[in-house]
Amino acid sequence: MRVPLIAGNWKMNGSLALVEQFGQAFAKADLSSSMEAVILPPSPYLAAAQTAFGKTSLGLGAQTVNPEPSGAYTGEVSASMLSEFGVRYVLVGHSERRSLYQEDDKAVLARAQAILKTGLIPVLCVGETLDERDEGRTETTVLNQVKAVFDMLDAQQRQHMVIAYEPVWAIGTGRTATPEQAQEVHAAIRACLVDYDKQMASRLRLLYGGSMKRENAAELLAQPDIDGGLIGGASLKVDDFLAICQSVG
Ligand code: 13P
Repeated sequence: MRVPLIAGNWKMNGSLALVEQFGQAFAKADLSSSMEAVILPPSPYLAAAQTAFGKTSLGLGAQTVNPEPSGAYTGEVSASMLSEFGVRYVLVGHSERRSLYQEDDKAVLARAQAILKTGLIPVLCVGETLDERDEGRTETTVLNQVKAVFDMLDAQQRQHMVIAYEPVWAIGTGRTATPEQAQEVHAAIRACLVDYDKQMASRLRLLYGGSMKRENAAELLAQPDIDGGLIGGASLKVDDFLAICQSVG
């Protein structure tokens, strides 16, 4: 049984006040115990979020990490530092990191390995651009991004991964993949995982991300291979994020 995961990626947004607001709202919220909800705030807010979410069911994640354990890497944060603040999930390969900060598959793999080594869970983000979709290269692009990491992990490590399919053309555009389009790619990812290990493939959680909101969440989450969501814009409004969490059925 795959426990649904709803993850709110705040990107470079939010404030201490928003952290408090989420803490208060989720302390009162009636959420199913058979799902997980996490917020990925910018790292300066992790300490405040750890305190504010302490008495709620909200977990914590981080948006990026440096692959090195420590050292002269000005501005960077290590996986063990994230772990000290109760972080459980860390994004790797988000399309904004790939395109704005030139993080290629090798950089994504190094981060995933550092996260696993620290006992945290990497959320590997994959997705095609609009050009790649139009050229019929959606599956190849997405599966290549998955394989670039999974080929280099051992069987044990693969079990501790989460994958998020985020079509680049759907991120922040208001243009969501239809449930059928998303399900098709999710099914292809799961079929690809079967080549590594059937049981791992049936247990690994696949999230959808890209303009997921309260209006379309239930329909997307009802697809057989969609096990949760990675939410950007709609995770900045507490009522919307809560509604998405409650639409897990
Ligand atoms: P939006 O939900 O704003 O489209 O962002 C999706 C995303 O990139 C989450 O990581």
